Amino acid sequence: MRHGRFEESMSNLLRNYGESVSFDWRLYAHDILGSIAHARALVKAGYLTGDEFASIETGLKAIGEEIFAGKFNFSVGLEDIHMNIEKELTSRIGDVGAKLHTARSRNDQVATDLRLYLRDEIAALQKGVRRLQGALIGLASANETVLIPGYTHLQRAQPIPLAHHLLAYVEMLDRDLGRLSDTAIRMDELPLGSGALAASTLLLDRKAIAKELGFSRVTQNSLDGVSDRDFALELLSALAILGMHLSRLSEDVVLWTTTEFGFANLSDRHSTGSSLMPQKKNPDIAELTRGKTGRLYGNLFSLLTVLKGLPMAYNRDLQEDKEAVFDSVDTAKMALAVTAEMMTALVINTEATTKAANDPALLATDLADELVRKNIPFRKAHDLVGKLAAESAKTGIPLDKLPKDFILEICPELIGEWEWLFDPIRSLKARSATGGPSPENVSRRLAHWKTILT
Ligand code: ARG
Repeated sequence: MRHGRFEESMSNLLRNYGESVSFDWRLYAHDILGSIAHARALVKAGYLTGDEFASIETGLKAIGEEIFAGKFNFSVGLEDIHMNIEKELTSRIGDVGAKLHTARSRNDQVATDLRLYLRDEIAALQKGVRRLQGALIGLASANETVLIPGYTHLQRAQPIPLAHHLLAYVEMLDRDLGRLSDTAIRMDELPLGSGALAASTLLLDRKAIAKELGFSRVTQNSLDGVSDRDFALELLSALAILGMHLSRLSEDVVLWTTTEFGFANLSDRHSTGSSLMPQKKNPDIAELTRGKTGRLYGNLFSLLTVLKGLPMAYNRDLQEDKEAVFDSVDTAKMALAVTAEMMTALVINTEATTKAANDPALLATDLADELVRKNIPFRKAHDLVGKLAAESAKTGIPLDKLPKDFILEICPELIGEWEWLFDPIRSLKARSATGGPSPENVSRRLAHWKTILT
């Protein structure tokens, strides 16, 4: 790279500062794929013979196998994965190898590699999301009749099926899946042929290369082709949101497994102990996911910041895209897998959930609704039931067991039987609006997800 222009060799500090092969080596398989497609286009355009192509292809594939087997010696002096592979190819097959880079720059090369790599990683992430959805559906199905209190402000609010709570995460994960698909669709453009910034005087059939590499379209502006990293940002953003969802689920697990809640137990395989307190069983796995969400946010912000001041077109700053992307992909894949395993093995403590969900105070709203049916305006009904609830809280007498004369004094409309209201199942059955937590809705939604996930 330097032979023509420079007299002095590079400072060791700069070499170590600028190298990327220590992390971008993992683009090797996609780099080779892209190079073979590029070489085929060079044949078509008359810059390579069929024999030359054959030796390039064989050479590249052999190098790929060696890297895969961990037998390849990367050289930091050759900066990145692209130069490492090309240099090795040339040392193996001679001058023909030096023809491979015709009509190509590392700028359009790396933009292509990253898209190819991310296409595969997005597919793997989508599988991970589906698996976690499956784990949640499994847990929900196995506990379909279990009720828990639903919360707002982390205060007990109204009883809901546990399955309804878990299915909320399945919906959230489905949007994550949609964002990943959207990213893949917008990313589906071949930048190769953009050259360093202004394409090339040596014309290649870009559409043929796109077709070979499985891209639906070619990029339409060479400056944008080499400097666009929107697709990486979109992915990092999708993974940051996914991480937020996993973090919320983790927080629920942390709460549920406390002695205070006692709604669930982690399996021993998914818990850690304390080095000091022998009695502890800790939910580190969930806490780590909650914590690693910080990285997912950080990677998004790091790339947003790298990109914001870049003059057109390629700038070396762009090399800083990779570690953020690799780290988010790795972190999200692991978090999905570990969360799915943890949720599959989670044991629900139905004694505690039943006790908590049957607190009559959770049906205070149902009592107010009953007064509405007796033609009392809701605000007034809310106020009256609020008074009963305050008395219940003060005396410790459950809402449905308060003395009749006291109740009638506050609310004469409550003459007659209304204790039947205080049955959580009855309450839930009535909550049958679309999206509501009625048992019928929940089981219909479970069935819906099961058909999607099989
Ligand atoms: N390793 C570089 C990167 O990731 C490849 C492109 C280098 N191009 C350049 N003009 N120095 O961005």
